[in-house]
Amino acid sequence: MPERIAVLAYSGGLDTSCCLKLLEERYGYKVVTLCVDVGQPEEEIKECEEKARRYGVYDHYTLDAKEEFVKEYIFRAIRANAMYEGYPLSTALARPLIATKLVQLAEELGAEAVAHGCTGKGNDQFRFEAIIRAKAPHLRIIAPIRDLNLTRREEIEYAKKHGIEIPSESKKYSIDENLWGRSIEGGPLEDPAFEPPEEIYSWTRNPKECTEEEYVEIEFEKGIPVRINGREMDPVELIRECNRIGGRNGIGRIDIIEDRIIGLKSRENYECPGAVMLITTHKALEQLVLTREELKFKEIVDATYGDLVYRGLWHEPLREGLDGFIEKTQERVCGKVTLKLYGGSLWVVGRESPYALYSKDLVSFEEKEMDQREITGMVKYYGLQAALYQSIKRRLQ
Ligand code: ARG
Repeated sequence: MPERIAVLAYSGGLDTSCCLKLLEERYGYKVVTLCVDVGQPEEEIKECEEKARRYGVYDHYTLDAKEEFVKEYIFRAIRANAMYEGYPLSTALARPLIATKLVQLAEELGAEAVAHGCTGKGNDQFRFEAIIRAKAPHLRIIAPIRDLNLTRREEIEYAKKHGIEIPSESKKYSIDENLWGRSIEGGPLEDPAFEPPEEIYSWTRNPKECTEEEYVEIEFEKGIPVRINGREMDPVELIRECNRIGGRNGIGRIDIIEDRIIGLKSRENYECPGAVMLITTHKALEQLVLTREELKFKEIVDATYGDLVYRGLWHEPLREGLDGFIEKTQERVCGKVTLKLYGGSLWVVGRESPYALYSKDLVSFEEKEMDQREITGMVKYYGLQAALYQSIKRRLQ
């Protein structure tokens, strides 16, 4: 009789630690834990393995997926300016990658099931399960917290009984972090009238302390950032460097009410300095090189893209189709953008590109390159239909 193995997406937090024990105790599985490194703090990854072993897992795997996350997900998100309701997508962007790794490991080990620690109220259950079902329909999916309808208080009780570490008082927030952003929710933040205290932030300095301006130049090739202040960097380092620069200037704190997939409104806080800087500069470059028609259409494409990613539909053929359109537009998104950072704000103060459609010779008040008189006829019949409508209105009044 082969062993019944369940592979659990494990973070070391309370939810997934309870899952670990529940899977053994209530579901009768041998548990293999998987921690996918998408840029969460290093101590967290170490602690994750250490806890898994301490709680007696059958086996634990840590998988460094940072480079893949940047190249296959973050770079696409930059090219698509991927936002949802006003913030750059981060958690949603990492979930399909984590789900894919979970399925791969489960298949390698011949596991019967995969498991995750999502509750029945959030978005991640959709994001994980949609990908898992699409890639490996034969795998059983177990969501113990949702299955047993557990509250946080019940989890803490269960944890105490099973020797699971209880989060300290200081851990009153639920935090999800990857290279592209950090999200903080829960605890006192559940009151939307409550101002986020300074303690929730760890990537960004308090904007009121950022009293010296800093300039940064970001260079793109085909819509992908390649150099910061003239220095070429490998993809993971480049994202980290942007987070550091933006962070020390207090950039990228976002506090919003967000509409979750199931319709619940939730209060969310984000820190995403690098994402804000890179999407802002990328858009600025697009404004310089894309035509009005492309820009107008791409805005719809970008919004649709963000929405699909948020709703866990990374594997939608529409997403691939949109990527096809975006890739074509990005051939010309090459050049440099200069940002000024100060007091938690950022401004685009310069841009240049070999593909710029901007022409000083044409637009300048000082130049004769374009003969103004030639436009007279174009102006005369401009708004023809509106003029006809107004004349009919006058006649019938
Ligand atoms: N609301 C965001 C999303 O669904 C982030 C949730 C992250 N989870 C957390 N425990 N902070 O993408």
